Amino acid sequence: MAQLSSLLDNFQPSAISEIFTLAERLNAQGRDIVDLSIGEPDFLTPDHVKQAGIGAITNDHAKYTCVAGTVELRRAIVRKFMRENGLNYEACQIVVDSGAKPLLFHALQAMLEPGGEVIIPTPCWASYPGMVTLAGGSSVFVPCKQDDGFKLQPAALEAAISGKTSVVILNSPSNPTGAAYSADEMKALTDVLLRHPHVWVLADDIYEHIVYDDFKFVTPAQVEPKLYERTLTLNGVSKAYSMTGWRIGFAGGPQNLIDGIIKILSQNSGNPSSISQIAATAALDGPQDFLAERAAILKKRRDYILSRINQMRGLSCHAPEGAFYLFPNCQNLIGLHTTKGFKIKNSADLARYFLEDYNVAVVPGAAFEFDPNIRISYATSMENLIKACDGMTKACAALR
Ligand SMILES: Cc1ncc(COP(=O)(O)O)c(C=O)c1O
Repeated sequence: MAQLSSLLDNFQPSAISEIFTLAERLNAQGRDIVDLSIGEPDFLTPDHVKQAGIGAITNDHAKYTCVAGTVELRRAIVRKFMRENGLNYEACQIVVDSGAKPLLFHALQAMLEPGGEVIIPTPCWASYPGMVTLAGGSSVFVPCKQDDGFKLQPAALEAAISGKTSVVILNSPSNPTGAAYSADEMKALTDVLLRHPHVWVLADDIYEHIVYDDFKFVTPAQVEPKLYERTLTLNGVSKAYSMTGWRIGFAGGPQNLIDGIIKILSQNSGNPSSISQIAATAALDGPQDFLAERAAILKKRRDYILSRINQMRGLSCHAPEGAFYLFPNCQNLIGLHTTKGFKIKNSADLARYFLEDYNVAVVPGAAFEFDPNIRISYATSMENLIKACDGMTKACAALR
């Protein structure tokens, strides 16, 4: 009989899509589900970006492009890295892919020897471990405490690095916690990394523009220029410019690494959509003032939902620096029973209870390698947040 790859045995489908599927099913049954499980902004793609995409179609920009991305887009990315991060790359040191997600995977394929270890601070984005597995490596999880704001501590990083370590992933601001490293905190980590010259640094900066309270975003190669030669600085237009469906991610890095990634792309996906590349060029080169306006709207929502969550029975959460997620602890609700007699054994049970009995979709912490917590996305309207908070407040209070 034809067999599936054994790689799939060590590989879980996304828990986020399971919640999403259940929520869809309940919606189809006529229930009014408030979805706080989604990882994308509810804002629209800006008009000038849409117009650039329409112009690209009208003007027949519908052919293959250079595998690494068009020269125009790579030059716009060079300007972005210089303007916003003080990082100096040539256009040939830039690679564009169909989203930051495939780019992360292709970068890991380029960096990893079979069995190579990837250090992942947890809670972490749900997709990193699966990508590491598929790229032939193994994940080394380093738990970060809620009391440390879910931030990796330098001593914990030092202890996790071994001769087998190939890559350290740093994601700031983080999905799922929203935690972001200040310049001093990042420097303490890059000081550790400096002592281990065999280790690649993979900086996932996709939430760069979503930070609050005058927080100043930094990225590792900016804080420690000596790491430039072994750091991939990765970003994209999905979250900042509300372009999740356009599928454009990009990265800057040392020439050998970028060439390696391009080699993989050339035999794999080829170039990302030519239309989306033109739209992304318009996004990066166009007006940027709406980014702060959108972050201000998200901050109001964060403040609202944070204060409501901290008033709910059994949930506790600190104020994160960025992204659009909260990751409250729900330990005090574990072991309680619903009015229907169902025991809440873990955060997955809690998420199912919120969804089935109170119409609120959240994601269980296990999806992010950390429990007992739930991830709440507040990238939705105030009206939805109020409805969801009312539902969760009742749900927590009703547990016995
Ligand atoms: C931490 C993190 N990195 C990367 C991505 C992927 O973004 P893209 O839409 O560019 O593939 C996401 C999307 O949710 C994310 O949360």
